[in-house]
Amino acid sequence: SEKIVIGMAGFGTVGKAVYTILQRNKDLIESRCGKPIEIKTVVCRHTERARSQLSSSVTVSDNSLTICQDPEINTVIEVMGGIEPAKTLILKSLEGGKNVVTANKALLATHGEEIFAQAKKFNRSVFFEASVAGGIPIIKALREGLCANRIRKITGILNGTCNFILSSMHQKPISFDEALKEAQKLGYAEADPTFDIEGFDTGHKLTILSALAFGTALQFKPENVCGISSVTQNHIKMANEMGYVVKLLATAEIVDQSVRLSVAPTLIPKDTFLANVNGSMNAVQIESDALGTSLYYGAGAGGEPTASAVLADICDIARKHHCTSCSTEQGQPLTLIDKSILKF
Ligand code: NDP
Ligand code: HSE
Repeated sequence: SEKIVIGMAGFGTVGKAVYTILQRNKDLIESRCGKPIEIKTVVCRHTERARSQLSSSVTVSDNSLTICQDPEINTVIEVMGGIEPAKTLILKSLEGGKNVVTANKALLATHGEEIFAQAKKFNRSVFFEASVAGGIPIIKALREGLCANRIRKITGILNGTCNFILSSMHQKPISFDEALKEAQKLGYAEADPTFDIEGFDTGHKLTILSALAFGTALQFKPENVCGISSVTQNHIKMANEMGYVVKLLATAEIVDQSVRLSVAPTLIPKDTFLANVNGSMNAVQIESDALGTSLYYGAGAGGEPTASAVLADICDIARKHHCTSCSTEQGQPLTLIDKSILKF
């Protein structure tokens, strides 16, 4: 198709930012990816509110199926969150021949196998850069930059809300609850912040990174996840006195020929790089055989940083850019690697 015609499900923190950036940088984005891009339909619950913030050329609906049923729409952005109706929207869109961009790590980490199988069946793509570490292009780094490497270990600060809470508690004597409220106000937290503070969101993101790096299944397991909800000012004070900071750390590494995943609050020496990743920033450290240690740092949550990643995926679709190292011919962006090739 000569034009990217988008149906976008979700007009909250991320959806609004996608629309804003596309309006602000339209010429630049279109000249970089070589195609006109238009948002045709936006789906949300409070349609009146969205209507007042969108140009009159955009149709607003409260039914996500309007997107999959519109033959003019060739690309779907899913930034609603949650499992349903997001999952049905994605499956039906792929069946209808549309490519999909999603920021929904909870959905991918739990139903990703079914979604990518559907994409393969209908020869379409699901792009998901925004699902891990907000605006940091970590999916592209793993799929493209590191595709010649055997990966040994991934260590990351992957949740902006938790990192904002912990670093605020280190910087001033505020309580956990006050810091969480502030993170919610800034648009970092999930609709249900339990996902953030109990470590599940970090676990979802680690599940996705591990699938790309080690070929593990997209089946989130909550057993190895511990969040930060019981961290108090006392813990922070003690850590500080001993020369450490508390961070919610995600780790995926090869141990005894299998992949071990863990998410847990961790004491990190103050003079290290990860200890100095503050606020809603995220960081990922990857150890691999050819490149050695590489570091990726940037805004891990919030409207515009996340929308930046969503729009990068839209540009990939416009350019028909598909990573051949982990894709089928038509650009299936996530194919799990055969473990026999990996030889842990
Ligand atoms: P918000 O809660 O701010 O926005 C969600 C949007 O989806 C709202 O517009 C809401 O409608 C709409 N929506 C939700 N459920 C339905 C439904 N059943 N039918 C129709 N519309 C619905 O979420 P975010 O923008 O923060 O997050 C969106 C996605 O992006 C999530 O998957 C999240 O995990 C992911 N993400 C978020 C980041 C962030 O920093 N916020 C960063 C990276 C990923 P209404 O406006 O009417 O309520
Ligand atoms: N709630 C998530 C976070 C959004 O705080 O990191 C970004 O994925």
